[in-house]
Amino acid sequence: MSSDLSSHGEVAIPDASGAGDPIPDPGLPPHEPRLTDVDEQAAKRAERQVATLFGLAALLIIAFVVAYLVVPRHAAFLGFGASNLALGSTLGLALLFIGVGAVQWARRLMDDHEIVEERHSSSSSEQDRAEAIAVVRQGADESGIGRRTLIRRTLIGAVATLGIAPIILLADLGPLPGNKSAHTIWRRGTRIANDVTFKLLRPEDLELGQLVNAVPLTLEDLPEGKERNNARAKASVILVRMEENQIRALPNRKNWGVGGILCYSKVCTHVGCPVNLYERVTRHVLCPCHQSTFDLADNGRVVFGPAARSLPQLPIMVDADGYLVAQSDFTEPVGPSYWERG
Ligand code: FES
Repeated sequence: MSSDLSSHGEVAIPDASGAGDPIPDPGLPPHEPRLTDVDEQAAKRAERQVATLFGLAALLIIAFVVAYLVVPRHAAFLGFGASNLALGSTLGLALLFIGVGAVQWARRLMDDHEIVEERHSSSSSEQDRAEAIAVVRQGADESGIGRRTLIRRTLIGAVATLGIAPIILLADLGPLPGNKSAHTIWRRGTRIANDVTFKLLRPEDLELGQLVNAVPLTLEDLPEGKERNNARAKASVILVRMEENQIRALPNRKNWGVGGILCYSKVCTHVGCPVNLYERVTRHVLCPCHQSTFDLADNGRVVFGPAARSLPQLPIMVDADGYLVAQSDFTEPVGPSYWERG
């Protein structure tokens, strides 16, 4: 495809024979003159309109400066800060007028002939390619890598053993967790407390459809710092209340709840973010990190997202004083699914 530009930017329609192209180049349509191209008076009017817009913008900028200097900072106007209102409206309108003026200038007065800019082929010539191959071959000959087999083999061995270094560095990731992630501080009879106020929770504290973030009360017995934080990270739970007839508990979980209240780990089984975006109509809880969604009415089953296993459920009951307590620790590890977990 080729084209030429005349001194006025006129484009000669490119060769539309289509030779060698899968789709023939249709070329450019003929130029349609605008009113301002053929009517001097219309062009003058357009020029005055654009100049008026730019002039108004200049006046608004001056008004902006004046407003900055004279409008008191704490004065109010129609319930808004008068200073912000004056500064925002003058500067905003000034920018708007400059933009509209520039658009009108381009649309009505600037040359609107379409042009084609040719690009040369980006592939190398046959000669360049042949020269590049010759340079590589010459380099290989001069290095002697083809003749000196001892050097070639030891070099391959050195590069291959280089891969061992990053494997050794894996040791810096720290000791394997062992079975530490398999247990939390929940025990039979551990009372369940609000995770902010540490107020003990009774069944009547939860309304239908409510979700409460909670922790074991025994967390308070641990020394503040790393140990307590680690324990809290693993033992945090969510309590939800729903209609008892909405719960589809597995046969061995029939007595894991109290009057429609169920308790689940708060740690997402994908990569461990806290789940707590609860949708009370569907009884689904969503993890905000990658949108894994768990059905709390159905044993914490994954209904959407990358999590590979259900949200672990904590069996709960009511103690003699009427407080919600755990029946035991979790019966499975909480948190992300690793390869060592069944
Ligand atoms: S951590 Fe919850 S979905 Fe990824």
